[in-house]
Amino acid sequence: MADHAPRHAEYDDIAAEYAASKQLPFRIVVEAPTLFDLAGDVRGLSVLDLPCGDGTYSRAFARRGAGSVLGFDLSGAMVERAHSIEHQEPLGISYQVGDADGLGTVGNFDLVVACYLFNYAHTAGELLAFARTVWANLKPGGRLIGINDNPRTALARYGDYAAYGFSRTLELPRHEGSRIRYSFPTSDGKTFGFDNFWLAPETYEQVFAEAGLADFRFVDAQAAPSAGQDWSDFLRDCPITGLVARRPG
Ligand SMILES: C[S@@+](CC[C@H](N)C(=O)[O-])C[C@H]1O[C@@H](n2cnc3c(N)ncnc32)[C@H](O)[C@@H]1O
Repeated sequence: MADHAPRHAEYDDIAAEYAASKQLPFRIVVEAPTLFDLAGDVRGLSVLDLPCGDGTYSRAFARRGAGSVLGFDLSGAMVERAHSIEHQEPLGISYQVGDADGLGTVGNFDLVVACYLFNYAHTAGELLAFARTVWANLKPGGRLIGINDNPRTALARYGDYAAYGFSRTLELPRHEGSRIRYSFPTSDGKTFGFDNFWLAPETYEQVFAEAGLADFRFVDAQAAPSAGQDWSDFLRDCPITGLVARRPG
């Protein structure tokens, strides 16, 4: 178990707003296709979705033929939304509340999907705890795929992404644990947001190796081939990145 006080589940306060943000074009045209491309054929695979949020990607992988899907998230409100959707449209997905730091082994999975998990680590130690949880839940030879705030971003690229429905600002000077604030205007004229934390790309590489995960690398985000508009400006030094690693067989 984790040797820290229980974390505040920030998403308990923004569950509905975050779920609505899943409809933004950048998520549909860039985030999801990047993730599905990394996943490849998931038919028959056992999948751990960590963090699952409201189950958006858990459902996507179940619909793509995964053999089983288990979702975990720190936020009870997000898991409640996931349960409610599962109740309305059953896909056989299980969801539970849990902290990825110190989760231990909850199964033996072919694939761990970590969309926006590692960017919640404030320190290399927290990142190591997350990476160890991934290792502990992968079969030998199993794969990790994910989407993350992109720590390779040039300083000049933080700021205004209004054309894409959000802003992303960095606490300066950039240092290990710097706060990255994401803000999203909502349809009722308000804004909501959440904080990610910056760790150097080299920290990711060192920590994943220390956790026993092989072949860790960031993978540039890409737009769906069918994307109607030109996404090259968004994709240049993109605010989000794919990532992959595997547990050696
Ligand atoms: C940006 S949302 C992404 C949710 C989902 N992966 C998606 O892409 O729709 C980040 C999620 O991470 C969860 N989270 C943050 N820290 C966590 C932790 N230590 N353990 C488990 N979940 C965590 C939050 O509650 C939130 O639901």
